[in-house]
Amino acid sequence: MLEGRSIVSMEDLDKSEILEVLEATSSMEQALTSGRRLHMLDGKIMATLFFEPSTRTRLSFESAMHRLGGSVIGVAEVKSSSVAKGETLADTIRMVEAYSDVIVIRHPQDGAARLATRFTSKPVINAGDGSGQHPTQTLLDLYTIRKELGSIDGLKISLLGDLRFGRTVHSLLLALAHFKVKVNLVSPPILRVPNHILEKFPDSKLGSVTENLNEVIEESDVLYVTRIQKERFTDEAEYQSVIGSYSVNGALVQTMKKKSIIMHPLPRVDEISPEVDTDPRAAYFRQAANGVPVRMALVAKILGGEYGTDA
Ligand code: NCD
Repeated sequence: MLEGRSIVSMEDLDKSEILEVLEATSSMEQALTSGRRLHMLDGKIMATLFFEPSTRTRLSFESAMHRLGGSVIGVAEVKSSSVAKGETLADTIRMVEAYSDVIVIRHPQDGAARLATRFTSKPVINAGDGSGQHPTQTLLDLYTIRKELGSIDGLKISLLGDLRFGRTVHSLLLALAHFKVKVNLVSPPILRVPNHILEKFPDSKLGSVTENLNEVIEESDVLYVTRIQKERFTDEAEYQSVIGSYSVNGALVQTMKKKSIIMHPLPRVDEISPEVDTDPRAAYFRQAANGVPVRMALVAKILGGEYGTDA
């Protein structure tokens, strides 16, 4: 039962709950393609507090809420909220609690979403906290893998790029720990997965840990590419040392299996060249589109919306 629950980390969901959301996502997708109007969340209000840039995540949460019949209020910029006047997160959350039924928050500090749950009895959904977690991205990543390749079990999944600061990677690893997979970790040495995440990932599911993508590219069913999280570096020299250290281009993609996919949470900078976009294996825009039905499924469950209440 997800009703009334906050989702801050991927660890807040067990495997059966993850699968429950993925199942509900398929129904949401069908409703979307049939053009049926849903009223499951009529009268409910979502507050979106985005204290960090976002395009896909915020818009897909908002679109999801509208598609379910609910409405959205929100702050898209710190500048335009009272946080700019020095209001604490605690006070902001206490206020927003009175205005809404569910609070979606993105914040530059690790742990901010968890902190927010202490100041409200309303469910809080973490839309990304610093280099912490991004659980709804993971749900859409899992949904995409299943939809594109039929199942998650049995796959070899290679994660490429900034595995240190990338919150989508941290959440994805915690989720993949539930499945029969082999995960390769490909990154410059200074961008490896932090120990506090790695220790929660079973050794038996870990494949290669390498700097060299060529070692794993041919066996990969999923290549999950990430952006170097420039904004998280405290040492400019460290950032400079990893710029341009990997790039996925057309020639590289030609060495991949025919039935494989390239994913990316987006935004990309230069880590996938645009020539790859037309390859059928390039799944990243389809992946981004899955953000709406996945968030519809999750929000409907959290707010207790039932099928059957829709017209
Ligand atoms: C990611 C994020 O914000 O963590 N973007 C997203 O939500 N799709 C990835 C990133 O910013 O690189």
